[in-house]
Amino acid sequence: MRHLISLKEQSREDLIAILDIARELKSRRRAGHLTNLLPAKTLVMLFQKTSTRTRVSFEVAMTELGGHSVFLDSRSTQFLLTDYRDEIRALMRFGHVLMMRALRSADVLTAASYNQIPVIDGCSEKYHPAQTLGDVLTMIEHSGGLDKIGKVAWLGPQNNVSNTLKLACAKLGLELVLGAPETDPASVDPELDREAEKSERIRITNDPDEAVRGADYVHTDTWMNMEFFEAGRVKPEFSDEYERRKAAFIPYQLNAALLARNAPSARVMHCMPCHPGYEIARDAIDHPNSVIFDQAENRLHIEKAILIWLLGVRI
Ligand code: CP
Repeated sequence: MRHLISLKEQSREDLIAILDIARELKSRRRAGHLTNLLPAKTLVMLFQKTSTRTRVSFEVAMTELGGHSVFLDSRSTQFLLTDYRDEIRALMRFGHVLMMRALRSADVLTAASYNQIPVIDGCSEKYHPAQTLGDVLTMIEHSGGLDKIGKVAWLGPQNNVSNTLKLACAKLGLELVLGAPETDPASVDPELDREAEKSERIRITNDPDEAVRGADYVHTDTWMNMEFFEAGRVKPEFSDEYERRKAAFIPYQLNAALLARNAPSARVMHCMPCHPGYEIARDAIDHPNSVIFDQAENRLHIEKAILIWLLGVRI
C-alpha cells in the first residue's frame, strides 16, 4: 500500500515518476484532452484546519479524473464526539484514497498504519508533500528540466513546508540553502533532518543575503502556525509568540531589494496564503519574476499525479 506522508516513504524514482505523470496530464489537459483516469473512485478529504488551495485543487483533480471527492471537517462530522480512529476506519470502507489536513501528523500516520487505502498528508504541522511536489514541478517547468534547476533558497524559519522541500531536494540532488534563523518546534522530525542533511547540497545559514545570493528560486512561507489563529484573529495564548516571531524574522522577508542585491533573476516562490508586509513584500508577490500563481495551479496537476500513482493506475 502506497502512502504520501513526509516523502520519507518515496525514493528518487518515485518522485520522478509522480512528476512525469503530472507533466503528461498537464500537457493533455492543455491540449483539451480528458484526463478521466479514475472513474468511480472517491477521495475522502478530512480537514481539521482551514484551506483554500488544498481543498479546491484536490476536489477539481478528482472531478477532472472522472472520480468524486467528499469534503469533511471536524464541525460537521462526529470526529469530535468519539475516538477519531474508529471514524477513520469507517471512512476507509467508503473511499479509495484518504487525504487528511490534520492537526497532528501522528494522526495521519495512524490512519496510514491501517493500510486499508492510500493516505495523503494534506499539510500537517510537520509535512506538506503535495505542496513540495507541485513546487518542484514549477521549478522544472521554469528551468526547462530537473537537471537545469540551479540553487534553491528558503527564507524564514524551517517548518512543515521546508521539511518536505528539504527532503525532496536531497533526494533529487538539488542544491538548497535555508536562510533560517530557527526551526518551528512543532515541525521537528529528526529522522527527516538526518536523511536530508546526508546530502552535501543542503545547507543552513542565518544570513538571508548568503542564502539568496546566486539563487534560481527563492521560497518562503508564513512565519506563523495555523493553530495561532481563530476566525482570523490571534488567540490570546499565542499573542506573545506572534509578536516575537514578527520581530525576529523581519530580516528574512522576501522582497524586491533583497532579490536585486543578491539574485536579480531568481524566481519568487510562496506556497500561499501570502501575508504581504510580513514574510513577503507586495513588491515580491507582484515581481516580474514571481511564479507564485504557477505554483498554485500546479497543485492541481501534481495532485492528479499523486492520486494516480498511489492507486497504481497506468496513464
Ligand atoms: N498552500 C496551501 O496548502 O494552501 P491552503 O492552506 O489554502 O490549502
